[in-house]
Amino acid sequence: MTTEWDKYQELVKEQMSKHFTEPYIKHSMEPKNVGDMENANTYISVLGSCGDSMELWLKVKENRIIDAAFMTDGCGATIACGSILTEMAKNKTLGEALAISAKTLIEALGGLPEGHTHCAGLASLTLKKAVLEYMNMKKEPWKKVYTESEKRHNPIRVDETEEL
Ligand code: FES
Repeated sequence: MTTEWDKYQELVKEQMSKHFTEPYIKHSMEPKNVGDMENANTYISVLGSCGDSMELWLKVKENRIIDAAFMTDGCGATIACGSILTEMAKNKTLGEALAISAKTLIEALGGLPEGHTHCAGLASLTLKKAVLEYMNMKKEPWKKVYTESEKRHNPIRVDETEEL
């Protein structure tokens, strides 16, 4: 049965399709891998120069990312980037994940709205920081004493425009 909400969603998609690409609409309106993750190996919180943040959880096994999840308080472009980023990161080795750039995300989404390319930079930098965090934890396991809540309240500040 088609509900009023379904009709509304269809209308929004129809309007959006006049301005945005299919993958962008899909990942911004129905994002994948949103929410926190239990038993993650790594958690990171990053704050961009635009004032928006992204959190990322990774499950890593034998140097391969087996699961990824994100949260953001950012714009629709950031949601789309977080969604496609987490999809792309899965099953990648840590080295392969480090190679996912802002440009990779923008291309995979078929472009981003004008003025929002830096949102891809926030997402790709968050993944890079998460991979580095995982590596640091392996070298210095005592760092596990820093809780998720402490990290959330002290996000790593980045200039996401440097990724472009
Ligand atoms: Fe800040 Fe999109 S406007 S990340």
